[in-house]
Amino acid sequence: MSTPTSDVLIIGGGVAGLTLALEVADWMSVTLVRPAQDDQGASRWAQGGIAAVLSPDDNLEAHINDTLVAGDGLCDEEAVRFTVTHGPAAIQWLIDQGVPFTPETDSSAIYPYHLTREGGHNARRIIHADDATGRAVVDTLLDKVIQHPNITQRNDLTIVGLLTDALGNCRGAYGSDANQQWHSLSACHTVLATGGASGLYLHTTTPAPSSGEGMMMAAELGARLANLEFQQFHPTCLFDPEGPAFLISEAVRGEGGYLLNEAGHRFMPALDKRAELAPRDVVARAIDAEIQRGTQGHVWLDISHLGEKAIRHHFPTIQAHCGSRGIDITQQAIPVVPAAHYSCGGVATNLQGATDVAHLYAIGETACTGLHGANRMASNSLLECLVFARSCAQALVALGACLPKEEIQYPKQPAYSTPPLAILADIRQQMRVIMSQHVSIVRCASGLIDAQEQLQILVNTLDENAGAIATSEGQRLHQALQLAMLTVLSAQQRHESRGLHFTTDWPQQLPKAVASTRSIKDLAIENLVDDDLAHKNLADKNLVDKNLVDKNLVDKNLVIKA
Ligand code: SIN
Repeated sequence: MSTPTSDVLIIGGGVAGLTLALEVADWMSVTLVRPAQDDQGASRWAQGGIAAVLSPDDNLEAHINDTLVAGDGLCDEEAVRFTVTHGPAAIQWLIDQGVPFTPETDSSAIYPYHLTREGGHNARRIIHADDATGRAVVDTLLDKVIQHPNITQRNDLTIVGLLTDALGNCRGAYGSDANQQWHSLSACHTVLATGGASGLYLHTTTPAPSSGEGMMMAAELGARLANLEFQQFHPTCLFDPEGPAFLISEAVRGEGGYLLNEAGHRFMPALDKRAELAPRDVVARAIDAEIQRGTQGHVWLDISHLGEKAIRHHFPTIQAHCGSRGIDITQQAIPVVPAAHYSCGGVATNLQGATDVAHLYAIGETACTGLHGANRMASNSLLECLVFARSCAQALVALGACLPKEEIQYPKQPAYSTPPLAILADIRQQMRVIMSQHVSIVRCASGLIDAQEQLQILVNTLDENAGAIATSEGQRLHQALQLAMLTVLSAQQRHESRGLHFTTDWPQQLPKAVASTRSIKDLAIENLVDDDLAHKNLADKNLVDKNLVDKNLVDKNLVIKA
């Protein structure tokens, strides 16, 4: 039996991955694989903040209730209670790490840090670091990670698959370096913190979001994916066709910003009594409808009435970015559009991040814990990253460095090939166009069929190009296409409208909310999987034929109840 590279292998270095690394590293050796540039994760771009019950005026039941309402009947209440209850301690942990949260300036306030509001929340409960909370948290945690002697960082690898053994345990991961040389990292426990799947879409709120590759790596080993059809579109991304993706935080509406249509009229109050602070699915659909009715391709978000001083105090990053794009937000309204922002679905896990696969965990946006249901409430995402990273860490430390006895089945290194970058970029772009056209804020049955057919053509084109599939980018693109296909399938099979899934064919909601689950077997049915698995020599090709999921589900008492 070979010695593992580390006790715990963490793939992904956003808030979830960094928190987990720090929470286990005093007891276990950690290898942390993160991109060379921080900009590649979503965490760093999170603006608004972290939701938790911090003010003595607030209470846990209120946060739980708001989350359940936003989730439109599909949240797992146990996961919601667990997350909200552990929220205040997770924030205190961040404060202890030195995160520079914005202090409250009002001397009569009863909580020392400023708390803002966002959509769906009936109380001020969002702690933040100006309007760049993700950056402040990542920078603080990364500093500690760099100094920790038990954490080895690898930022030279692109992970493309997980290692397994004959019993189906996860035994680490493999990937390639910049020269397309493949490397294996074995571990007792492997944790995916690889982000969501917003990169499946053309317009996103972060410049380079992932496209669900980590989710598919887990699925390839037999893990269930849940609720993939619930892709969240943030209502307000800067409309800037020539510029980079840039989020305009929901906190802008929380502090009093108005949404205006082309005629300059507020349209939210007539649609929902919560007006601009209704949950995101409601606001994004309303904006989408206004855009369809209008000619400009965007609506307006106006915060200018707050005044220069308050805007500079609350939103320095947004003010600076908009200024650099020629928009003075103290004087004029901001042009905004909805854009893909967050995947509510992902790898199904229990409350410790355990997946269906032994020794494989998933935390953060990669996971589907049941917290978000059909629509994530604002600022519950970083909270989930923290709470589940900490509970996963506790579980791993309790388990220790236990090692299965089976030999690892290492994948064969594909023959080196120069990546045909133009073909790969073209297929990726086409995939994003298809998803944005047909699997977006409003869906219909015929559009989903078109998406399925067009994605299948892209999969075939990629498979026919052996040179492309042998590269790490080819493999990641294949995973993205597979996840896109599974997302379409999930949308097709939900015959109702709920939360973020709105379809014109079934505009009503069914009386009983049921989570959806997908596995790699669904792709076998669609004829997509065999060649790819064979190519990777994952050996356990039977995986697709085995009924892997159900028994594990029952045994592990996973929180997502199908
Ligand atoms: C925002 O600042 O609007 C984003 C925060 C979130 O997605 O929860």
